[in-house]
Amino acid sequence: MGNSHITIHNKAFRPYLSAAHLDEAVARLATRISADYAGRRPLFVVVLTGGFMFASDLLKRYIGECEIVFIRVASYEGTASSGVVQEVLGLREDVQGRDLIIIEDIVDTGTTMHHLLPTLQAKGPASVEIATLFFKPESLKHQLDLRYVALEIPNDFVVGYGLDYDGLGRNLPDVYVAV
Ligand code: IMP
Repeated sequence: MGNSHITIHNKAFRPYLSAAHLDEAVARLATRISADYAGRRPLFVVVLTGGFMFASDLLKRYIGECEIVFIRVASYEGTASSGVVQEVLGLREDVQGRDLIIIEDIVDTGTTMHHLLPTLQAKGPASVEIATLFFKPESLKHQLDLRYVALEIPNDFVVGYGLDYDGLGRNLPDVYVAV
């Protein structure tokens, strides 16, 4: 990764985390998860779109039997009594009694996970844990138990390695931060 700034949609970003640095953090996390789930057969639930690159690298390094599904989450305002309603798209598997590991690109305010967890828990899995590439502890607005965090980062906007800025930048192998 060079030193040069990049521009996405007229916004400037500077190099922040190299592909090698990300790879090391992801490998460490894969080792931990593999040890924790030894002898079980977890079902990894990858949250699209941002989680695709992290999931690919993490799962290549996961050792043991596992299954993988991809979901999308769509949140919309329900009635005043129901608050935010969350729909999980693409989860056709029966998750009853399964050990689920959600794979997410970033936990920022935690709102997405705060709504996704009960939605999945209502389907009767044996366990649910979260594996996230990035966690911004300063932004968190909900109580969340994050078992697997690859990297904690400050409250800055990052792009690359699956994460986008208004649709662009997901393909970048390195991560950049807004300047
Ligand atoms: P939440 O606030 O934890 O619900 O974060 C939800 C989503 O916001 C993440 O899954 C990302 O798609 C997006 N997001 C939050 N912070 C960033 C960032 O720094 N770069 C790119 N996307 C982000």
